Amino acid sequence: MSSRLVVISNRLADLNKPAAGGLAIALGGVLRSGGGVWLGWSGNIVPYQDENSVACTTVGNVDFLSIDLDEGEHQGYYKNYANGTLWPLLHQRVDIAVFDSSSEKIYRSVNKRFAHALLSVLREDDVIWIHDYHLIPLAEELRAAGVMNRIGFFLHTPLPPPATLSVLPNHEWLLSSLFACDLVGFQSNEDRVNFLSYVQIYFGDEAVDGSTVTRRRRTIVGSFPIGIDVDSFQAVAQSPAAQAMCAGMREEYSKRKLLIGVDRLDYSKGIPQRIRSFGAFLHSFREFRRSATLIQIASPSRDDINAYAEIQRELESLCGSINGDFGELDWMPIRYIHKTLNQDELAGLYQAAKVALVTPLRDGMNLVAKEFIAAQNPYKPGVLVLSKFAGAAEQMREALIVNPYDTESTVHAIHRALVMPLHERQERHRALLATIKRYDLHWWCKGFLHALTRPESKHDYSIKS
Ligand code: G6P
Repeated sequence: MSSRLVVISNRLADLNKPAAGGLAIALGGVLRSGGGVWLGWSGNIVPYQDENSVACTTVGNVDFLSIDLDEGEHQGYYKNYANGTLWPLLHQRVDIAVFDSSSEKIYRSVNKRFAHALLSVLREDDVIWIHDYHLIPLAEELRAAGVMNRIGFFLHTPLPPPATLSVLPNHEWLLSSLFACDLVGFQSNEDRVNFLSYVQIYFGDEAVDGSTVTRRRRTIVGSFPIGIDVDSFQAVAQSPAAQAMCAGMREEYSKRKLLIGVDRLDYSKGIPQRIRSFGAFLHSFREFRRSATLIQIASPSRDDINAYAEIQRELESLCGSINGDFGELDWMPIRYIHKTLNQDELAGLYQAAKVALVTPLRDGMNLVAKEFIAAQNPYKPGVLVLSKFAGAAEQMREALIVNPYDTESTVHAIHRALVMPLHERQERHRALLATIKRYDLHWWCKGFLHALTRPESKHDYSIKS
């Protein structure tokens, strides 16, 4: 890509941190190679906000632009509308979504601020890539300010079916603002189809032609399942810190089978359902009492939002009751850990585990599923139990696919994973590893930017592996 890339996301990545997330690693690579800009929220909440203030830090040939939010903006845009309205709606939890028009107004005005912050540095041939649900109307704001550049938007969360989307007050405004983009990308084909169906229902059949929407301009709609950087995660898994973690866990669990769950503590992740299924498994398969342990890592997240505080309480009581029912002096069935582990620790844990339970109720993609596969020893791999409601399930078909709402079938999948013969584990792992290597983070990044900058080239916009 010869043009300069401009990335905009709610959270501003810190490319200098060794623990920078996958997104930062992939986009950071492109930004560094051609020069570019990353605009985001600084993470600061200030008492009073001068709406035009933008800070800029330059690292090499990348400019990091950041804006602060004042308390009202943080509450209305981030906590209420993005995380209290859109997040549950997008994950099909309309029962806990909160709708209020004043937060919607603040969300709109913060999006406008992002647009204005960008205008001061934007060049004519920059290519703009907007990320995630915090910034859905941003492209429209940029067009309103006269921006003619190519603009792509990628949604990291799932997109629900039209009936769910229609619950949102002013949903036509929000979703049609994406027509200002040249490319709209989703994690899965299901999300892509949901968007196209929504457009057909609310904007007419003539608005959709195959994989493009023609309203204000020609908008390509594609699925671009995000991947991980397999090579670099495998290198982390071989690091001394990861190996030490793995050896320590193996020693501690030498006579036991270790299952793991690793999630942000979020109601979309299905953690209580998973814990209940594990309890039901111990109830049905007595021979695994004293020998199977589930370590559940739940990293703290958004804990000043009610629904998050509630799920934390629910989990504490659920784990306590299962440990009370089945625990012995020398064995506790569940170790629930409410903290964030670093990459080395996680990679070590993945290697020591026999089974990973990745069972969200809804998830855009779920990269834990991919990291677990990348970290396995191919000669003695562990088994992935994966929810059919994670975007990853469209690609990772050789996992044991479960419906996390169906306790009985999840119990049987846990059992099957624990007794699976070695040759079957190897075969499944080989196929899964090939998939995540082929569709890795660089493939995702290149594929999206290719579709954005060379729209005329032949490309399969309904990617399925
Ligand atoms: C999800 C979203 C991201 C978000 C992350 C952490 O993965 O798709 O956009 O940054 O959760 O949530 P937070 O609210 O802490 O940014």
